[in-house]
Amino acid sequence: MENKSNKEESRGYPKEVIKLLNNPKFFGRMNDPTSSSYLKGPCGDSMEFYLVIEDKRISDIKYYTNGCGATRACAAMAAHLAYGKTIKEALSISAGEVIKRLKGLPEDHLHCSILSVSTLYRAIADYLLKV
Ligand code: FES
Repeated sequence: MENKSNKEESRGYPKEVIKLLNNPKFFGRMNDPTSSSYLKGPCGDSMEFYLVIEDKRISDIKYYTNGCGATRACAAMAAHLAYGKTIKEALSISAGEVIKRLKGLPEDHLHCSILSVSTLYRAIADYLLKV
């Protein structure tokens, strides 16, 4: 999904972030998820997560965000880390782990990682409150 705006937005980010920005694997919305979530961060960026959960395991996951490159990279990393995991395992994915796996984030974008895991947790909560 590499495009001009991705290239412009990715300036200054570590190469792991740029790689995720250009990988559309988990990006998009889902028509019939088991559960979903929507959150808006203090900066005004919003994020959505969509989960398919089978036997308490996340068998498919998508994210959507209107945020900047760091926001998209954090959401993509959270999705990557949660894919194939059990609900319990996915609930232990932390903002710190997202940052670590991205090999760092600019100081003024650390909150993007919190938005990503918070939105993931909310999608899991949506599932747990339904079962
Ligand atoms: Fe606000 Fe990324 S800049 S979530």
